[in-house]
Amino acid sequence: MAFIADSLSRVKPSPTIAVSTKAAELKAAGRDIIGLGAGEPDFDTPDNIKDAAIQAIRDGKTKYTPADGTPEVKRAVCEKFRRDNGLQYEPNQITVNNGGKHTIYNAFVATLNPGDEVVIPTPYWVSYPDMVLLAGGTPVFAEATIKDGFKLQPAILEAAITDKTKWVILNSPSNPSGATYNARELKALTDILMKYPHVWVMVDDMYEHIVYDGFEFVTPAQVEPGLYDRTLTINGVAKAYAMTGWRIGFGGGPVELINAIRKVQSQSTSNPCSISQAAAVEALTGTQHFLSERAAVFQKRRDMVVDMLDQIDGIDCPKPEGAFYVYPSIAGLIGKTTPDGKVIETDLDFCSYILEAEGVAAVHGAAFGLSPHFRVSYATSDEALVEACKRIKRACAALGQG
Ligand SMILES: Cc1ncc(COP(=O)(O)O)c(C=O)c1O
Repeated sequence: MAFIADSLSRVKPSPTIAVSTKAAELKAAGRDIIGLGAGEPDFDTPDNIKDAAIQAIRDGKTKYTPADGTPEVKRAVCEKFRRDNGLQYEPNQITVNNGGKHTIYNAFVATLNPGDEVVIPTPYWVSYPDMVLLAGGTPVFAEATIKDGFKLQPAILEAAITDKTKWVILNSPSNPSGATYNARELKALTDILMKYPHVWVMVDDMYEHIVYDGFEFVTPAQVEPGLYDRTLTINGVAKAYAMTGWRIGFGGGPVELINAIRKVQSQSTSNPCSISQAAAVEALTGTQHFLSERAAVFQKRRDMVVDMLDQIDGIDCPKPEGAFYVYPSIAGLIGKTTPDGKVIETDLDFCSYILEAEGVAAVHGAAFGLSPHFRVSYATSDEALVEACKRIKRACAALGQG
């Protein structure tokens, strides 16, 4: 009898973390590596937020708190949802967790029975399918291709829904494609969801504040108030406030669901770090001026990276409206041969090749469920990005006909 649980055999370790680890190992071994795998802003947490955390320590906020968040942080989250999204939640409709990832995982554990299906648009954030599997559910994929700007089309969503569907996940701006739904595009999806009252909507708005070209961010429960009673709107401080290490995420939704999530959390992790909760209060209610400043920096980098990658023969790089990723197609490179005679058959082959030949670490599209692509995170310096794009260009130019 195996000691490790059977459920784990269906789950794979995070490929994005694997790429970062591999890049760090090669770097430690003396290789000149540029990492394009980062899922976090290269900015630091703003000082006002750090100061609030230091003050919380001095004030002795160092004890257990209510399992799913202090009254202060829940009020701050309510204020954020009202200010940014026009959504009214009471504190008893809010759950605060150890990162947005934890909010999502808790929600699955709290709701999924064996056989329950979760519709996940591809390309997807790597953790969704595995979290569904860990919680005993079944992921069902709905493909959003490059031709549609990686945006899920209503008919494809509808075809993926069955009697067993419990949740549909909507993530905008998307990790990995950066695709961001405007109000009209979102309404076309929520119109479908209105036809299926047994389906709940898990909304991952983690990259809300990283949008470009004046894009007006909207969230499903806002464009379709009819879905409010079966929507969990998830967000966090990690990406917007450069607080990935502080581990605070949160969700707003119906009281019954929030209570179920509290039950899961109270018997597993208990409260998220008390100091981080105090920091999150400042993040959500303090000055917000740096959000647009930082988005402007990311926008410049997006433009630069898209221009450089799209010029490369064999690469097609769409320009997304949000997040800090691009998701170019390498369809034009499949079948070509590397200088040492290996045929590029998959996007994993391509990413292995650019890592070995040029020291550029990026994540292959198969990890996100849509090939042949690769994901570039531009949450790194301009110099590193320019150099990385030059290296990718050189690597592609060195490929021969198969
Ligand atoms: C789409 C998406 N959702 C959720 C998360 C989780 O964020 P957190 O660091 O708050 O757990 C990430 C992090 O990479 C993400 O990319």
